[in-house]
Amino acid sequence: MRRYVLAIDQGTTSTRAVVVDGAGQIVAAAQREHHQYFPHPGWVEHDAAEIRDNVRLVVARALSGSGLGRGDIAAVGLTNQRETTVVWDRRTGEPVHRAIVWQDTRTQPAVDALAADGGTGPFRAATGLPLATYFSATKIAWILDNVPGARADAEAGHLAFGTTDSWMLWNLTGGLEGGVHATDATNASRTLLMDLRTLEWSPELLEAFGIPAAMLPRIAASAEVYGTIAATEPVVGEVLAGVPVAGILGDQQAATFGQTVFAPGAAKNTYGTGCFMNMVTGTEPVFSTNGLLTTVAYRLAGQDPVYGLEGSIAVAGSLVQWLRDNLGIISTSAEVEELAASVEDNGGVYFVPAFSGLFAPHWRPEARGAVFGLTRYATRAHLARAALEATAFQVAEVVAAAAADCSRPLTELRVDGGMAVNDALMQFQADLLGIDVVRPAVTETTALGAAFAAGLAVGNWSSLEELGHTWHEERRFVPDLDAGSRAALLRRWGSAVRRTFGWLD
Ligand code: G3P
Repeated sequence: MRRYVLAIDQGTTSTRAVVVDGAGQIVAAAQREHHQYFPHPGWVEHDAAEIRDNVRLVVARALSGSGLGRGDIAAVGLTNQRETTVVWDRRTGEPVHRAIVWQDTRTQPAVDALAADGGTGPFRAATGLPLATYFSATKIAWILDNVPGARADAEAGHLAFGTTDSWMLWNLTGGLEGGVHATDATNASRTLLMDLRTLEWSPELLEAFGIPAAMLPRIAASAEVYGTIAATEPVVGEVLAGVPVAGILGDQQAATFGQTVFAPGAAKNTYGTGCFMNMVTGTEPVFSTNGLLTTVAYRLAGQDPVYGLEGSIAVAGSLVQWLRDNLGIISTSAEVEELAASVEDNGGVYFVPAFSGLFAPHWRPEARGAVFGLTRYATRAHLARAALEATAFQVAEVVAAAAADCSRPLTELRVDGGMAVNDALMQFQADLLGIDVVRPAVTETTALGAAFAAGLAVGNWSSLEELGHTWHEERRFVPDLDAGSRAALLRRWGSAVRRTFGWLD
């Protein structure tokens, strides 16, 4: 039996290829970063052609590192940074513009104009999303409006849109020679163009954003065979020709799947450059009244979709990078833990990292970052501590919002991502939440989730229950703070956050 699955995780800063065995263990991995382009304040772009090359490179390296040969890989799973928008020409196979990244805020004027013309309510009712620059729709429209000839070409069916899952899939399955143009429901649910109930592109939304239907991918399940790796695909085709591509999940949904968070009421939080809390709610969408997104958690072939609530936080680990690169108060990101631990508490300092406004649960594009509570007593250690605590406070806000939306409090939070290795931060998180924070033995949950989806589709695993047995706890952080102190911390944080509202108004 072919026991291994290859997962490709195309993230915001890098692309990883990971080989997973039947027990859910990672046997080999390779990674490559790509360039970040910041052509103007608020603009963030990637070169999709560079990403395509990096996919080839990391797949070749991971496979050679695994020592596995042709025929050992049962399926390939894809996972990706969501929302980031690639538009390519089906006739040349090349992108018509650099990819516009999820963090990019250039389309705020378009968002404001749409909001003024009919309000944001209809968009949320149809898609579960607030009208914001974060999602793909206004990014696609920007490319059509700003690349000469693009709109006419799109209308004529020459251009294709995709998030980077679709871009990878199209290339891996043959590109110009019959590449498959598809995405999965989790990714489509982040475009502002998919009807959350029918899981189809909405003609009304396409019209509102001015996007031709001809450029959109088919919306498929998260686990099904979309196509096979083409022999003509450089590098990857040489080693994996004929292997099915059988799983696609947006990266946060993949991490949820990799944490084997399948049942309603369970949740995970991923601490990356941003932070994403995802709670599974069941087969009916729950529309948030507390600032969360409603999104598709996963859809297995032939089954009803499973929905979730998401608390998307724009700045978490990137605040530590900012302390390192912009303030220079630490020389490596890892130093922040020691510096923060060198003081007993935050010394009254609160750091609201609203660098590009605030995402969930506030959705305040006009907010900007601020530090509150400074006195002559405060040191760089207090600032480092406040920066770490800011992540835990933001997560506490979205967990509270999820509890309010579901009227069902969480009993524990599974954690993963780079900052989850920080024991002091995880303890503070448990203290703030008042529930256990649980870290799994395998923290590479994003790639794992994509591998699980692909493996399910080809029969490597037979059920969600079987996948659940592969999950093992590494450490549990139990709350150790009295309710009064917790409430006082959260009250002060809330007051700091509110003071950043309206800064650019
Ligand atoms: O919504 C954006 C998210 O999918 C990006 O995740 O881990 O690539 O920063 P990441």
